[in-house]
Order: sequence, then structure tokens, then C-alpha cells
Amino acid sequence: MIQQLTITDIRNIVSATLKPSPSMNVLYGLNGSGKTSVLEAIHILGVARSFRTSRIKPVINRDSEVCTVFGRLGVTSGSVPIGVSRNLRDESLQIRVSGENLKSTSELARLLPLQVINPDTFRLLEGSPKLRRNFIDWGVFHVKHQDFFPLWKRMQKALKQRNSLLRHGRINGSELASWNIEFEKAANAIDLLRNEYIERLIPVFNQVLSELTDLENLTIQYYRGWDKERSLNEVLTSGLARDAQSGYTHSGPQRADLRIRMGKVSAVDVLSRGQLKLVVCALKLAQGFLYKELSSKQCIFLVDDLPSELDIPHRLALCQLFQKMSCQTFITCVEKEALGNCWLPETEVKMFHVKHGQIALDENPGQQRIRRAESLEIEHE
Ligand SMILES: Nc1ncnc2c1ncn2[C@@H]1O[C@H](COP(=O)(O)OP(=O)(O)O)[C@@H](O)[C@H]1O
Ligand SMILES: [Mg+2]
Repeated sequence: MIQQLTITDIRNIVSATLKPSPSMNVLYGLNGSGKTSVLEAIHILGVARSFRTSRIKPVINRDSEVCTVFGRLGVTSGSVPIGVSRNLRDESLQIRVSGENLKSTSELARLLPLQVINPDTFRLLEGSPKLRRNFIDWGVFHVKHQDFFPLWKRMQKALKQRNSLLRHGRINGSELASWNIEFEKAANAIDLLRNEYIERLIPVFNQVLSELTDLENLTIQYYRGWDKERSLNEVLTSGLARDAQSGYTHSGPQRADLRIRMGKVSAVDVLSRGQLKLVVCALKLAQGFLYKELSSKQCIFLVDDLPSELDIPHRLALCQLFQKMSCQTFITCVEKEALGNCWLPETEVKMFHVKHGQIALDENPGQQRIRRAESLEIEHE
């Protein structure tokens, strides 16, 4: 949980400090005021990069060469100061945690698990399988961190070596055989972790989805990247000629996917845009609930422009779920009133007005709270 956030030179935010609520934070303001940039700053604090671009230049304020995000994280034993700063001139990255330099961004990511819901994440179902693999691996990484990351690196290295041998036509030597063994070992272990995670996630997802909307025939199936009836060894052996011809490996965990269907057809082909968004929200929320259950910690949700993405009943249903999860959430919207009727009496809601890159706590939010009885009956259309 972020107790304090200080942003320096991120886009139009030259300098801002806020003390967020441990539960619900609403950032409202006109287009171009800097709301998404606040979420971006939190993302940089969590994983050292933006979710809008992989480059750092557009993120740093145009009159500056360095951007810095400082955060104080509340943990059971007190608080941990984290500082992340990126320098344009030498592209350098500095991460400080409790006064020490940190070398790896994966260590940073473990401290601040983030979930983003924005127009890009709504492409999770129709976008490339890589997005869905990243989705699965978020869960595996945060739940099985110690095992997963080294395995994933081993698998990538073996895959790269194998592909390079295939491209150079060296398919008969013992070198390929030994990289195959290494690849299979890592692949099977990754498959096991991913499969275990998805098995845990599916019931949570079904529950969340049923609270959001009514899509009874929707199923999720994990595809490991090769035939479920055959070992990877068999598949690689029988596919060698094809792999050699194209110069890359057709089967393995680098091809894993989630198959989301309505009955027998792909959900993407039959659901409306709005329904797809709800499925994505349910997937993301399910990860949040499961993370909490398995690690006893909480992740932070960054939700960009929720009201423009969902209609009123579904906004309400989603906000109810955030409150049920009781994790720290940052939601942006244009109109202050857009989420006015979404909060339970006990939820600590802080409203921040974002204006020309400045962030002010709204001392008089004037939020209407919902009564308990109302909140329990979310109407689905
Ligand atoms: N590198 C930059 N330096 C200064 N201003 C920037 C930079 N990049 C974007 N901006 C401006 O920052 C503002 C904030 O954008 P954004 O956070 O997306 O606004 P919102 O989400 O509130 O609509 C925009 O007006 C944009 O033109
Ligand atoms: Mg925005």
C-alpha cells in the first residue's frame, strides 16, 4: 500500500505529493490535466517503466532530463521508502529501496504488485497470445516468484540457442540434443507452475464474473503451448523438420495461451465490446483476489478512465468488487460525480482534483454513499 507518493517531472507533473487512501482514490480532472500521468508514475514506481510506452523520453517532462517517483510503502513491519529515477541523458535507471541501490526490476516488482485496467488491457482477449501469457505470468511471478523467474530465464536462453542452431542448419549435432534437454526441463517446470496457477484462478474468476455479469457459458482453458497428449520431447522430435525449415521452435511454453470460449466458439467472436471488457475486468480482479488469498498481501489497482469504459450498473458492480477486495485502488475519471454513488459507508475514499499537472486533495468531496441494502442488489441487465 502506498502511503505517500511524490512525483517529479513525469509528463506535465513537475512536482506533486499526495497521501493516498489505503482503499479508494479517485483522480478527477479535465482531459490533459495529468490523471493518467499519476497512474503512470505509480507504474514507474512499481516496475520502473510506463504502461503507455516502452520509451522513457516521452514520459520525462520536456523541460527536464530526469524523472523521479518516490513512494513510501506501508508494510506490516512499518514503511519502506522506494525511489525510482530515470535519466534521459544516459538512459540510466536508479532504484533505491530503504536507502540501498537495487539492481533488478524484478525485485522492485515484487515489492509493489500492480494491476492495470485501461483501454489497452481491454485488448487482452482479442490481442496477441503474448498478452495472455503475460497475464498468466503476472500471477505465477507474484505467487511463485522464487521458482518462476530463474526458470523463465533458463527457458528463454535454451530457446534462443535452439533457434540459432535451427537457423544455421545445425540440426544433427549433439549440441541441439543438449539444448533440447535444457529447454524441455525448463518448459515442463514452467508448464506445471502455469497450470497450477490457472487451476486456482478459474474458480475465483467464475465467482467474480458472476458478480459482474451473467455469462454462464464462458469457459477458460489453459493451453500449454504443445499437444496435451504428447510430451514436449515427442513434439520437438516429430516437428524438427518444420522447425528447421522455418528457423524457430513451433512448440513450447513460448506458445502458451488462454482460450476463452462461449460454448464452443471463441468469446471474442460472439461477445460485445462491453461484455469483453467485463470479462477482462473479472480476470484482473480474480488475480487480485487470488493474490490476496495466496500471499496474504494486496496488489494495487490502477484503473484509467473507468466511467467512459463501462455503463453505470457495471461501474457500480466493479466498484463493489474493489471494495470487497479492499485493496488500494486508483481510479481516474473526468467528472467528479461519475463514481458518486459507488461507495459503501465504511470505504475510505479520497478524491484528488488534477489540474494542469497539479494535484489537490478535495476536502469537500460531497460523495453520496450507497446504503448497505442497495449495495447488495446490483442489477444486471
Ligand atoms: N513529456 C511531457 N512533458 C510535458 N508535458 C507532457 C509530456 N507528455 C505529455 N504531456 C502533457 O501532459 C498532459 C497530461 O496528460 P495525461 O496524463 O494523459 O492527461 P489526462 O489523463 O488527465 O487526460 C497532457 O496535456 C500532455 O499534453
Ligand atoms: Mg488519461
